[in-house]
Amino acid sequence: MSHTKEINRRRTFAIISHPDAGKTTLTEKLLLYGGAIQVAGAVKSNKIKKTATSDWMEIERQRGISVATSVMGFEYQDTMINILDTPGHQDFAEDTFRTLTAVDSVVVVIDVAKGVEPQTEKLVKVCRMRKTPVIVFINKLDRPGKDAFELMDEIEQKLGLKVTPLSWPVGMGGDFRGVYDMIRKNLNLFDPGSQIVEKGISFDDLSDPELENYIGSQAELLREEQELVDAVYPDFEVDDYLKAEISPVFFGSALNNFGVKELLDNFINIAPIPQGRESDIRFIEPTEDQFTGFVFKIHANMDPNHRDRIAFVRVVSGSFKRNTNYLHIRHNRKLKFSSPTAFMAQKKSIVEEVFPGDIVGLHDTGNFKIGDTLTEGEILNYKGIPSFSPELFRYVENADPMRSKQLSKGIDQLMDEGVAQLFTGKHTGRKIIGTVGALQFEVIQYRLEHEYGAKCRYQPITLYKTAWFVSDNDTQLNDFRARKSNQIALDKEGREVFLADTPFALQMAQEKYSDIKFYFTSEFDS
Ligand code: G4P
Repeated sequence: MSHTKEINRRRTFAIISHPDAGKTTLTEKLLLYGGAIQVAGAVKSNKIKKTATSDWMEIERQRGISVATSVMGFEYQDTMINILDTPGHQDFAEDTFRTLTAVDSVVVVIDVAKGVEPQTEKLVKVCRMRKTPVIVFINKLDRPGKDAFELMDEIEQKLGLKVTPLSWPVGMGGDFRGVYDMIRKNLNLFDPGSQIVEKGISFDDLSDPELENYIGSQAELLREEQELVDAVYPDFEVDDYLKAEISPVFFGSALNNFGVKELLDNFINIAPIPQGRESDIRFIEPTEDQFTGFVFKIHANMDPNHRDRIAFVRVVSGSFKRNTNYLHIRHNRKLKFSSPTAFMAQKKSIVEEVFPGDIVGLHDTGNFKIGDTLTEGEILNYKGIPSFSPELFRYVENADPMRSKQLSKGIDQLMDEGVAQLFTGKHTGRKIIGTVGALQFEVIQYRLEHEYGAKCRYQPITLYKTAWFVSDNDTQLNDFRARKSNQIALDKEGREVFLADTPFALQMAQEKYSDIKFYFTSEFDS
């Protein structure tokens, strides 16, 4: 098959949601359609449940699961679909942000009763920033929930997405009768428990009195609502969706496998094929001959005796081949991989060649960190995997002086994996760990001990934010450095950050040093 054909038949996306909206259930149903799994219940949830916050074995177990479900590839109607898993727990939101850099589109799952929840808001904001096309799936229609129009309004307001429905529910909860597929003009009737998708009943014209025979008194309401839908929402244009200017909305019930096939069939028709990516020197098209890709996730081996890791690389252009030399840009070193893995049907297997849109897993003994670029020789770096200013901070200290080497190696590697960020006081030399969630501190302590034989303890620090800063005005910069010397630290790349202890301190610095720019993500040049 030609390179272009391979690209055109791929779709790489993530399903995002607030925990419990039904992401795992929907993923599982999609895998069932692809024949990637045979029975329901085969996909374990990659969510760290709230109750597990102090249960380390649970976290380890979950980490094991998340290796298996990091990428789920399957074929459906000659389309190669890659679903990239994202952790639901908010403490791991940064993992999700990074995964979003490796997909070309997303499906957002919303619980019909709960509507738009905070985690969904945060994640969709990132999609909007990146102009990632979004499809919305409103789930759990078999349960009572919010009115469909009300939900559409809520999505527009809270998520900032312009929406247009492509299917419309007939009732909900106990009265849920089915969904009207507005593209195929089919009425799909809901049969709880059957799990079998019947072919829809064609209704080109909803005024057909036959409609009453299927949905009784709800027919009139459907007609009225459809009139309103026609009047209120714009026609769906694929190009607008691809430009992330409009989001189609589908209704269904993942648990009952209802509305899922419609979602999947529409998805493969409209979702974007693998897209190129911006690098620091130029935009790279997927159709280019030469391989390029970037690391968006690193997963440590579960077995402490084998401290190797898997680096997940998104292929952007060309094709990645086994046993071929590629340039690791940051190290300026050629590397060759004898057992690159792909993730098909939930199985890892060694692959000879993978294409743009695919994710390849590379065994790594410590060469990679998140954001690294691999190419066939061209010197370029992919952009767009920023570190965000963490929200929680603690000093980290060595609790076992005999193991200081192990501690620094452990911290180093955990930071490369993107578990947290490390800052070192420029003058004090004290090490500060910054995270987005409280859970990470405990994960770090646990993993340092179990994987590296090192012990750390934390000390509190009053810190509001870390801000990277730059300026062309050397006078201001030097004055700032001199006055704030105790509040300046270096990140892992040696870049200076300002440790602002309060919002006020930050504001004062911004006002006083007007020529200094303060940034809250590390990719401030993008
Ligand atoms: P998540 O990955 O987004 O966190 O959600 P998940 O799929 O685990 O679903 C959360 C809960 O919602 C699960 O119930 C699941 O069975 C249920 N659910 C998913 N889709 C639907 C639906 O369409 N209708 C209804 N009524 N429920 C749905 P649970 O009791 O928390 O877990 P489980 O014991 O059933 O696995």
